[in-house]
Amino acid sequence: METSTIPKIHGKAKDFMPINGTDYIELYVGNSKQAAHYYKTAFGFQSFAYAGLRTGLKDRESYVVIQDKIRLILTSPLKSGTEIGQHIDKHGDGVKVVALWVDDATYAYDTAISKGAKSYMEPETEEDENGKVVRAGIYAYGETVHVFVERKDYHGTFLPGYIQWETPDYNPAPTGLKYVDHMVGNVGWNRMNHWVEFYEKVMGFVNILSFDDNDISTEYTALMSKVMSNGNGRIKFPINEPAEGKKKSQVEEYLDFYEGEGVQHIAVATDDIIKTVKDLRSRGVEFLRVPSTYYDAVTDRVGKIDEDIAPLKELGILVDRDDEGYLLQIFTKPVEPRPTMFFEIIQRKGAQSFGKGNFKALFEAIEREQELRGTLH
Ligand code: FE2
Repeated sequence: METSTIPKIHGKAKDFMPINGTDYIELYVGNSKQAAHYYKTAFGFQSFAYAGLRTGLKDRESYVVIQDKIRLILTSPLKSGTEIGQHIDKHGDGVKVVALWVDDATYAYDTAISKGAKSYMEPETEEDENGKVVRAGIYAYGETVHVFVERKDYHGTFLPGYIQWETPDYNPAPTGLKYVDHMVGNVGWNRMNHWVEFYEKVMGFVNILSFDDNDISTEYTALMSKVMSNGNGRIKFPINEPAEGKKKSQVEEYLDFYEGEGVQHIAVATDDIIKTVKDLRSRGVEFLRVPSTYYDAVTDRVGKIDEDIAPLKELGILVDRDDEGYLLQIFTKPVEPRPTMFFEIIQRKGAQSFGKGNFKALFEAIEREQELRGTLH
């Protein structure tokens, strides 16, 4: 049985930057109105907030969708030549902002800058009749940024500048997605340790798990990964870099198509993965499939679990165990034309790790997709 334990990091992390959780994720997309429809229809997000022409903005339009604690801002430009448009031209649809909820955004920003972070946005206070929000931002890998959001003096639903977005005639039910479990970044060749040090030095994160190319390789492709966590464990950022293999690794494929470093996947938690995945499939979300032989050995590998194997096999849900328990997970296909960002659905039953026992089966499944795309050379 493959096992791994995450060291207890509480008290060990240099937690000079307390973070309460993920605040929102902003994606720059070609058509925010249609993207919002997709996240509602396919993933069960709910209409939440809007900013654009109707709120006086002239250059962009943002739709915000929500499901439990997960908030996605979907933003498109309203004219040519904008920073948002250039981002989309270069990267395709993708994550621009990973916003972090803090008690003091100015302190978080000043601390990060004093430790070497590059500024994206100096502290800015935005106000409306519901109070004020302070936001400030720093650059992370590629063109991805972290925005610190201080909302302790704000009582509105989202952020100043946004109005409530209501769609009385179309509100598909949620699918049981609850919160962001982790978000993975793909970085360039030999850049993983640079970004590990960035999160350690600038944000006080700790490296809680490492996988080398022996852990994460198939006959053909390989990658390396280190998982960074903040002090309270609410923010986990695995960082991947490609490794040499006989053929092109999925991380290299991502870097080619995204034309740089960026967010590879957003892992979202559910309390009932069988129900959630059935629902998502019926709404058109496409998942990676492992061969049915994966399930022949699954009980030997992970021992007894609460779920029947049959529905897991039917849906293609993967299982792994560590010293603290087990987890169930499944990965979508990329959600845009370029083979770049995708989602992971995860249900943790004690396990705090990331499914190392599934890496091989999973990467072989990705290779089959790469083969179909003609990018596995
Ligand atoms: Fe993941």
